Amino acid sequence: MKVGVIGGTGRVGSRLIAHLRAGGHQGVALVRSAGVDVVTGEGLREGLEGCEVCVDVSTPPAFDESSLRFQEAAMAHMVEAGRAAGVGHFVVLSIVGCDDVPQVPYYAAKAYQEQALADSGVPWSVLRATQFHEFIPDVMDWTTERGVVRLPPTPLQPVAAADVVNVLVDVVLGPPTRARANLAGPESLALDDLARHVLALHPDGRAVVTDEQAGIFAAVPGAELTAPHDATIAPTTFDEWLRDSWPA
Ligand SMILES: NC(=O)c1ccc[n+]([C@@H]2O[C@H](COP(=O)([O-])OP(=O)(O)OC[C@H]3O[C@@H](n4cnc5c(N)ncnc54)[C@H](OP(=O)(O)O)[C@@H]3O)[C@@H](O)[C@H]2O)c1
Repeated sequence: MKVGVIGGTGRVGSRLIAHLRAGGHQGVALVRSAGVDVVTGEGLREGLEGCEVCVDVSTPPAFDESSLRFQEAAMAHMVEAGRAAGVGHFVVLSIVGCDDVPQVPYYAAKAYQEQALADSGVPWSVLRATQFHEFIPDVMDWTTERGVVRLPPTPLQPVAAADVVNVLVDVVLGPPTRARANLAGPESLALDDLARHVLALHPDGRAVVTDEQAGIFAAVPGAELTAPHDATIAPTTFDEWLRDSWPA
């Protein structure tokens, strides 16, 4: 099967293409460095030529309000170009609970992305994952000042990107479900404690201070981002990932 992967050089996209190739399939990276821009639509129609499936695992450049404009353009171009190329299955990797936290602009944009795909009339599937283990060090860097990481105790249930790809590949190779499936890691932990786990195993001189107001996750009221009852639970714990897969 030939699969067009928008964002195919990213954390998830590159692993997905390797996984597809290992299974005897063809994954094509549709990214700006290959002349494809999902925001302008440039190169997308040509890139999807001969693809049975199109997956979007791209990421907007910023986590602010501009992410909605990115998703509006991306979804319109993906559906239009995919239809023209005869793609039979459209897949998006989204985020668990994104529609429950519209206060976080990036998550509101992901909820828009899902709904735009579902409303488009094309055959679709959505896999929602929780925050990646690999994402936690980025979140720590965003709120580091003078050697102190400030983070709220927001409950998260992170998942290893490799575990996400193991599930995503089955969604991509399976039939369109016209449904949102949920995937989470095995443990729910407070975000500030996740940062403490990072620095306990990989100390770099920083300290963690609990701050209810710090960073984008401060806007999350409760456990919206943890596994819903129907979620598939992936195996790799955060500490296993910290031990076996560091650096991120
Ligand atoms: N991070 C998390 O914790 C998390 C959790 C759940 C779901 N997700 C979702 O998982 C997906 C993959 O995340 P990731 O961490 O693997 O992303 P990533 O590593 O940041 O990779 C982003 C990819 O998007 C491509 N890209 C960016 N702008 C583009 C454009 N205008 N046109 C075409 N390609 C473009 C980039 O390539 P070029 O720069 O070469 O274009 C790159 O291949 C995202 O949709 C994200 O919302 C993430």
